[in-house]
Amino acid sequence: MNILRFTDLIAQGQAKGKRVFIRADLNVPQDDAGRITEDTRIRASVPCIRQALDAGAAVMVTSHLGRPKEGELRPEDSLAPVAARLSELLGRPVPLVANWVDGVTVTPGEVVLLENCRVNKGEKKNDEQLARRMAALCDIYVNDAFGTAHRAEGTTYGIAQFAPVACAGPLLAAEIDAITKALANPKRPLLAIVAGSKVSTKLTILQSLAKKVDGLVVGGGIANTFMLAAGLPIGKSLAEPDLVEEARAVMAAMKARGAEVPVPIDVVCAKAFAADAPATVKPAAEVAADDLILDIGPQTAKLLADRLLAAGTIVWNGPVGVFEFDAFAKGTETIARAIAASSAFSIAGGGDTLAAIAKYGIERDVGYISTGGGAFLEVLEGKTLPAFEILERRATIAADR
Ligand code: 3PG
Repeated sequence: MNILRFTDLIAQGQAKGKRVFIRADLNVPQDDAGRITEDTRIRASVPCIRQALDAGAAVMVTSHLGRPKEGELRPEDSLAPVAARLSELLGRPVPLVANWVDGVTVTPGEVVLLENCRVNKGEKKNDEQLARRMAALCDIYVNDAFGTAHRAEGTTYGIAQFAPVACAGPLLAAEIDAITKALANPKRPLLAIVAGSKVSTKLTILQSLAKKVDGLVVGGGIANTFMLAAGLPIGKSLAEPDLVEEARAVMAAMKARGAEVPVPIDVVCAKAFAADAPATVKPAAEVAADDLILDIGPQTAKLLADRLLAAGTIVWNGPVGVFEFDAFAKGTETIARAIAASSAFSIAGGGDTLAAIAKYGIERDVGYISTGGGAFLEVLEGKTLPAFEILERRATIAADR
């Protein structure tokens, strides 16, 4: 992807003394008392801010937090807890600035955090006047917010149209590079694991990947619908019988390309959805009418693991079983360990997938772990994310000058 990179601008000495506006994704989960419960996104945003400070820029950082009502900053919408955590991570004060659209005081070598950008009127609808006012605050606009790259909002899109320079921060650039490596120029065979409770929420992903991948591994409730499509019994398992035809179409599209959707040959069943429900392994063809399929069986897991070990590239979204319950976690653990052991380049994303990666401690063995939730899913759907599109357009315009 042809985009300007902030790292390159810094290397060319273009950031020194400049006003740099960084759009980060600092949208982190909080408990009822407002304490941050998971800070990966804040930590992932630190390198860009450090680079800007080290380059001698006057640094403004903003993000959304939640989905506040525009025009009103309620205490629970404030980035104050984020400013405190950022200040700890950077080892320096990070003042929080409210009402910032018409002017921000910050000197080179300093950083300020601009309050929740989604409380500004016009942010969500990408109002042009708001975008122009924000663009006027800076010399260089840096988008480092992959988690929000699928939103065409004022701080993710509009400002990039009007800022003197618009570029990608190191986190966004790393995500772009990993996605390109996995999906645009993959080393084959390319295997994707798409799991989750419903085909309906991931149908467009399945349809899009069916045109690209060499193997499409389905898991969870999605696999149950594919088992139905393959004529297998699934008992009382979660499935969407009305989407069986779509599942068949995905299987047919893959087959027509000489590729495959491997349907489980054995499964782990229980009579109730509970952590202490007795688990029974059985052949896929022998699932009883009162069974719930809660995991893939050991033979299926072994077959999939062998394919993952032989893959050139792996894309992973979703656990293949109810891995939160130990009796139904072995399928997901086998998949996770095979991905870790495989020499394939792997990219993983999505909340449950990240939880599984953390549970099995394989963070260092996955090629790239995406910070995107919805953004990662839209990439898998084959969509061009608005943030990428505008940065590419700006880079083309800059190159033509
Ligand atoms: C996310 O949490 O996925 C991103 O921060 C985007 O948030 P949004 O869905 O509220 O736009």
